[in-house]
Amino acid sequence: MTHVIAIYPGSFDPPTNGHLDLIARGSKIFDELVVAILRNAEKRPLFSVGERRAMLERLTGGFNNVRVDTFDGLTVDYAAKVNASAVLRGIRALSDYEYELQMALMNRKLAPGLETVFMMPAEQYSYLSSRLVREVARLGGSIAGLVPEIVEQKLKEKLESARNEEENK
Ligand code: PNS
Repeated sequence: MTHVIAIYPGSFDPPTNGHLDLIARGSKIFDELVVAILRNAEKRPLFSVGERRAMLERLTGGFNNVRVDTFDGLTVDYAAKVNASAVLRGIRALSDYEYELQMALMNRKLAPGLETVFMMPAEQYSYLSSRLVREVARLGGSIAGLVPEIVEQKLKEKLESARNEEENK
């Protein structure tokens, strides 16, 4: 019997309900799913890799075939390292397609045996992105229902401490 391992790479800064929706879907079709947080993607992420990892570990604790890891360098190299044969990516709207297609084809060029599998999150998350969540939270809007409660709480704490730092300058 083949045991299919997939990686779900991304920045997850922060994890959203859209990411969790995709993890739930991916965990149903793959034997093992590794949520892989890219290190050093952005120079100034809101959450450190350690914070993102801790949040994702708590959020995925209920899935027995999902684990969380971090990686550096090429996604295809990380996939080979963990013996993954598929890369899971979410496609929300047509606007995602071009970028995702480019990445999938580049990854295929680099590693012909690695398949990219696209899945669609639930419709209610089709406009959701980590970038918008960060922006809305920073500007005081409600992000309830868009991110898990623990992420909402961590966002509040993070933005509060950033505000305090700013005031004490
Ligand atoms: O959540 P994101 O930021 O859309 O995820 C992008 C990610 C991490 C999948 C992409 O930037 C990536 O794969 N980076 C690793 C470096 C790499 O392999 N680059 C070539 C991709 S074709």
